[in-house]
Amino acid sequence: MMSKQDLLSLMKARHSGRSYDPTRAISQEDMDILMEAVRLTPSCFGDEPWRYVICNKQNNQNAWEKLLSCLDESNQKWAKDAQVLIISFSAKNFRKSGKGENLWANHDTGAANYGLMLQAAVMNLMAHQMGGFDRDKIVKEFNIPNDFNVMSVIAVGYEEEGAEIKEKKRRPVGDIFFYDEWPRS
Ligand SMILES: Cc1cc2nc3c(=O)[nH]c(=O)nc-3n(C[C@H](O)[C@H](O)[C@H](O)COP(=O)(O)O)c2cc1C
Repeated sequence: MMSKQDLLSLMKARHSGRSYDPTRAISQEDMDILMEAVRLTPSCFGDEPWRYVICNKQNNQNAWEKLLSCLDESNQKWAKDAQVLIISFSAKNFRKSGKGENLWANHDTGAANYGLMLQAAVMNLMAHQMGGFDRDKIVKEFNIPNDFNVMSVIAVGYEEEGAEIKEKKRRPVGDIFFYDEWPRS
């Protein structure tokens, strides 16, 4: 049975570091668990609008290098040591005909990505999302259909031992939560 602090402790421990251990691969069993975490995410109309392209250095070095080359230089500097790079996508429209544009797809894909990140943290893996990449290049190089948006690239791997972990900085609760209505200025 989980205590009420267990999930919070995991959320506090999860972090987006930039020091990966380049020597430690991720087992397929652990990759399967990360995929299951995504599948279990709730979504508007149960539409499951997320899609992923996984590039695992162990399985296909060419694909992994191609994805690394799509990242901004500042991200390539550290993501080059991550064993797995994953692109997340969100569907522009609902699957069910007649429902039209899915305005919640980005939201739901973000939730799925966070599920993956938390599950990674439980398994002592570090998942670090990136928005700094060449979107057009990803679409072209990875054969992405035009009814999907590229959301983020997620680096996954084991953190280098002894890496410095920065303290989490967050806005104060009062800046985020309002009672009863939006504050009037
Ligand atoms: C959608 C998204 C895009 C991000 N883009 C980048 C990025 O391009 N490069 C980078 O180093 N970190 C990136 N980050 C990581 C954030 O900077 C990081 O999550 C934030 O500073 C909070 O730190 P924490 O994840 O350790 O709690 C991104 C995070 C998200 C969720």
